[in-house]
Amino acid sequence: MKRRPIITIDGPAGAGKSTISKLLASRLSFVCLDTGALYRAVAYRLKCEGWNGTAGAIADPVRHPKISLMHQAGRVRVIVDGEDVSDKIRTEEIGLLASKISALPQIRENLLSVQRELAAAGGVVAEGRDMGTVVFPDAEVKFFLDASVEERVKRRYLEMISKGERVNLTDIENDLLLRDRQDCERSIAPLVIPEGAFVVDSSNQSIPQVVDFMMSIVERVCPLRECFFT
Ligand code: DC
Repeated sequence: MKRRPIITIDGPAGAGKSTISKLLASRLSFVCLDTGALYRAVAYRLKCEGWNGTAGAIADPVRHPKISLMHQAGRVRVIVDGEDVSDKIRTEEIGLLASKISALPQIRENLLSVQRELAAAGGVVAEGRDMGTVVFPDAEVKFFLDASVEERVKRRYLEMISKGERVNLTDIENDLLLRDRQDCERSIAPLVIPEGAFVVDSSNQSIPQVVDFMMSIVERVCPLRECFFT
């Protein structure tokens, strides 16, 4: 049987991918696949193990943790080697480490099959950095979601303040620019606009406006029957 469609959303940190992909998935009754969470989970595990920062130290397959995503009461829980790390991985430190380790071929190769397995039946909105280029090159609809650095810094700042964290704009901007550099300049699966992707700049658009626009593209490209029925 033909699988249901796969929709990819790639873009830099802070462009709004997580929020938008969750809403788009919910409108389509699709599953949302947050692939950044998988890289964050590996980064968290390596940090707990006192990883020494070298690629050689993770060549050993036993260092690759077992990761699963559990959908629970409308929320996705990230489980690594049996531990629920969903909240622990949402820090700037783990985000930066995830970006660093995501340049390592062993890590990317291991997560490639995990991501494809999770999306095997289709009906998925997959968000990350290489969704439309490497992981799901045959996806039915591809988006590249972007926003200005200024806007991304502002959003990240407000998000962290709302969590009660003490942060300043300069540190956030530095971290974001470092992450952009690491994600765009790595030699394997760098962040680029996938061929055929619809580029959406969310800088001056509200979340509902972006989701409505994406929905209109999905409805145009995929016949509704394909999206909503197995
Ligand atoms: O989307 P995020 O901020 O949770 O992702 C954390 C890091 O993981 C990101 O800076 C780079 C890496 N990543 C990746 O290399 N490829 C993906 N498909 C998703 C994330």
